[in-house]
Amino acid sequence: MSTTSSITLFQILVCMFFVTTSAYSNSSNIHYEAFFNCLSKTSHSHIPIYLPNTSSYNSTLISSMVNPRFSTPKASKPHLIIKPLNESQVQAVVICSRKHKFQVRTLSGGHDYEGLSYTSNQKLPFVMLDLINFHSIKIDIKHETAWVQAAATLGQLYYNIAKKSPVHAFPAGLGPPVGVGGHISGGGYGALMRKYGLAADNVIDARIVDVNGKILNRKSMGKDLFWAIRGGGAASFGVVLSWKIKLVRIPPTVTVFTVTKSFEQGAIPLLHKWQYIAHKLPKELALLTWLRKLNSTREVSFIALFLGKSNQLLQIMNESFPELGIKREDCIEMKWVQATLYFFQLPYNGSLSSLLDRNPTRRYPFKSVSDYVTKPIPESALQEMWRRASEVDLPYIAFIPHGGRMSEISESEIPYPHREGKSFFISYEVDWIKEGDSTKNIEWMRSLYKYMAPYVSKNPRGAYINYRDLDLGQNRIDGSASYEEAKVWGVKYFNGNFDRLVKVKSKVDPSNFFNNEQTIPVHAHI
Ligand SMILES: Cc1cc2nc3c(=O)[nH]c(=O)nc-3n(C[C@H](O)[C@H](O)[C@H](O)COP(=O)(O)OP(=O)(O)OC[C@H]3O[C@@H](n4cnc5c(N)ncnc54)[C@H](O)[C@@H]3O)c2cc1C
Ligand SMILES: *[C@@H]1O[C@H](CO)[C@@H](O)[C@H](O)[C@H]1NC(C)=O
Ligand SMILES: *[C@@H]1O[C@H](CO)[C@@H](O)[C@H](O)[C@H]1NC(C)=O
Ligand SMILES: *[C@@H]1O[C@H](CO)[C@@H](O)[C@H](O)[C@H]1NC(C)=O
Ligand SMILES: *[C@@H]1O[C@H](CO)[C@@H](O)[C@H](O)[C@H]1NC(C)=O
Ligand SMILES: *[C@@H]1O[C@H](CO)[C@@H](O)[C@H](O)[C@H]1NC(C)=O
Ligand SMILES: *[C@@H]1O[C@H](CO)[C@@H](O)[C@H](O)[C@H]1NC(C)=O
Ligand SMILES: *[C@@H]1O[C@H](CO)[C@@H](O)[C@H](O)[C@H]1NC(C)=O
Repeated sequence: MSTTSSITLFQILVCMFFVTTSAYSNSSNIHYEAFFNCLSKTSHSHIPIYLPNTSSYNSTLISSMVNPRFSTPKASKPHLIIKPLNESQVQAVVICSRKHKFQVRTLSGGHDYEGLSYTSNQKLPFVMLDLINFHSIKIDIKHETAWVQAAATLGQLYYNIAKKSPVHAFPAGLGPPVGVGGHISGGGYGALMRKYGLAADNVIDARIVDVNGKILNRKSMGKDLFWAIRGGGAASFGVVLSWKIKLVRIPPTVTVFTVTKSFEQGAIPLLHKWQYIAHKLPKELALLTWLRKLNSTREVSFIALFLGKSNQLLQIMNESFPELGIKREDCIEMKWVQATLYFFQLPYNGSLSSLLDRNPTRRYPFKSVSDYVTKPIPESALQEMWRRASEVDLPYIAFIPHGGRMSEISESEIPYPHREGKSFFISYEVDWIKEGDSTKNIEWMRSLYKYMAPYVSKNPRGAYINYRDLDLGQNRIDGSASYEEAKVWGVKYFNGNFDRLVKVKSKVDPSNFFNNEQTIPVHAHI
C-alpha cells in the first residue's frame, strides 16, 4: 500500500474540514472532521482513505466491484473508501463509524450478487470498508489447518495449499476470485462438497471485530455467534478478519471430464436422467451439469471431478450413467489444484498463477438467483428451460448435486439448512454485454424463476444467501425490516435457523449497526 496513491489521514486533517461530495450522494456537507479525528485518536496511525474527488477513488472502486450492473453513473457510491492496514485500524473504523453515524459496508472479494458491499442508498454517509490489505494465508500442514485473512481469494488459498502439499485441499467455491470473507460466511459450495461439505462446515476458529470494536475469537465470541457467522452471512454480525479452516485430504491425482451435448444429441433427456443419479454417486465424484448458450448455440455440459484415477471413474460412470457414454479419451488426470482452474474454464496446463489474479476473466453485468430441488424436474419443464435460454444472449444455468456428506450434516449444525432431501442446487445466471439489455435480462430471470416454482423446493422455497437476491421479499435499505418482513426471505435462506439467527443478532448487535437490505433483524421477543 503506497501512501502516494491514497489520501492519508494526515493529509486529510491538514487540507480539509468539511467535504462536499454532492456528486456522490444526496447528503451535502457531511462533517468529516470529527470522524477523522476519532480515527486518528483511536488507531494512533494513518489509515488510507479515498475520497470521491481523488483519481485513485474511481480506480479503487472499479477494481473492487465485481458486478458492473452497479457501476453505472446513477448507482450509489461510497462517500469514503477506507482500506485499513491492520486489525487495530479496522477496530477504529467500527468504533468511529458507530460514534459519528457513518454506515459501514464490509468488502472482501466484492462478489455480492446485489452489490451490497459497495453500494448503499441510505441517508447516512457510507463507508466502504475494503479489507483488500487482509490477504495473508498461513498453512499448517502438520496440523492440517490454515489461517486465512478475509480478503484472500479462493484461488490464492488453493494455490497456497497446493504449494505446501499435493494431498491437501479445501472444499470451497468454483470461482477463484471470490473472497473468503463473504463466501465462507454464507456457506460456500464447490466440487468437494459431496465429500466434505461446505467451506463453512470446515471452519474451526475465526477472528471478528464486533459492534463495540472488540476483537473476538471462537472462545470469546461464544458458541451462538460462532454458529451464526458460519453460513448466516457475517454482514449482520461484525467484520470477519480471518478464518481458521480445516484442510481436507485428497489424492495426488484426480480425474476430470467435460462432455457437451446438443439438443439432437439428447441434452435434455440426459439432463433429466442426471437428476436421478448425481446425488447418489460415490462421495468422491461430483458430476455437475450446466445449460448455457455460447455464440448463439445452446448446449448442456456434464463436468466431473473425481477424487481418484480415470480407470475407476470409467467404471463408476459405466455402472451408474452408461447413457452419457463416457470414454477414456474424455478423462483427464491432473492435480486437484489444476482442476480448480479447469472448473473455472481457465488454462490449467501452464502456470498456476492465474489463481492469484483477483480479476482473471472479463466482468459482465449479471443477475443470478438460486433454487433447491427435492424431486426430479419433469422433462417438459427442462424443455421449457431450454426454450427460454434462446431468449437472451448469455444464459448460464448450473445444476450442482448435493447428497453425500451434505445429507449427513444436520440442518441446524450451522445456519445453512439445505441438507438431507435436497438433491441438487440450481444456479441461474444471465450476463449481458450492453447496458441497455439490463431490464430485459432481469425480467427474463424473474419470469424463469416464477416458471420454476412448481418444480423446486416449497414452503419455504429454498434460496442460498451467497446468491443474494433482493427480489425474494421486501427489503428495507437500512436493514430496519420487521421480523415478519425479514422472515419472508429469511426462511428461504435459513429455514428453521432463521429464529436462532434473530436471537444472536438481537444479542450481539441490538442497535442494528451492521445492516444492509437483507441483514438479520433485531427482534426482542423471540
Ligand atoms: C464469479 C463468481 C463465482 C462464484 N462461485 C461460487 C461458488 O462456486 N460457490 C459458492 O458458494 N458461491 C459462489 N459465488 C458466490 C459467492 O460465494 C458470494 O457472492 C460471496 O458472498 C462473495 O464473497 P466476497 O467476499 O467475494 O464478496 P463481498 O461482496 O465482499 O461480500 C459479500 C457479502 O458479505 C459481506 N462481507 C464480506 N466480507 C466480510 C467480512 N470480512 N466480514 C463481514 N461481512 C463481510 C459483505 O458486506 C456482503 O454483504 C460466486 C460468485 C461469483 C460472482
Ligand atoms: C477534495 O475535495 C475537498 C473539498 O471539497 C478539497 O478540500 C480537496 O482539496 C479535494 N481534493 C482533491 C485532491 O481535489
Ligand atoms: C435528499 O434527501 C432528502 C431528505 O434528507 C429528501 O427529501 C430528498 O428527496 C432527497 N433528494 C434526492 C434527490 O434524492
Ligand atoms: C497499524 O499500522 C499502522 C500503519 O502502518 C501503524 O502505525 C500501527 O502501529 C499499526 N498498529 C498495530 C497495532 O500494529
Ligand atoms: C470518477 O468517475 C466519475 C463518473 O464515473 C466522474 O464523474 C469523476 O469525474 C471521476 N473522478 C475522478 C477524480 O476522476
Ligand atoms: C465465440 O465467438 C467469439 C467472438 O464473438 C470468438 O472469439 C470465440 O472463439 C467463439 N467461441 C466459440 C466456442 O466458437
Ligand atoms: C460396462 O459395463 C458392462 C457390464 O455392466 C460391461 O459389459 C462393459 O464392458 C463395460 N464397459 C466398459 C467400457 O467398462
Ligand atoms: C494440456 O496438456 C496436455 C498434454 O500434457 C495436452 O494434451 C492438452 O491438450 C493440454 N490442454 C490444454 C487445455 O492446454
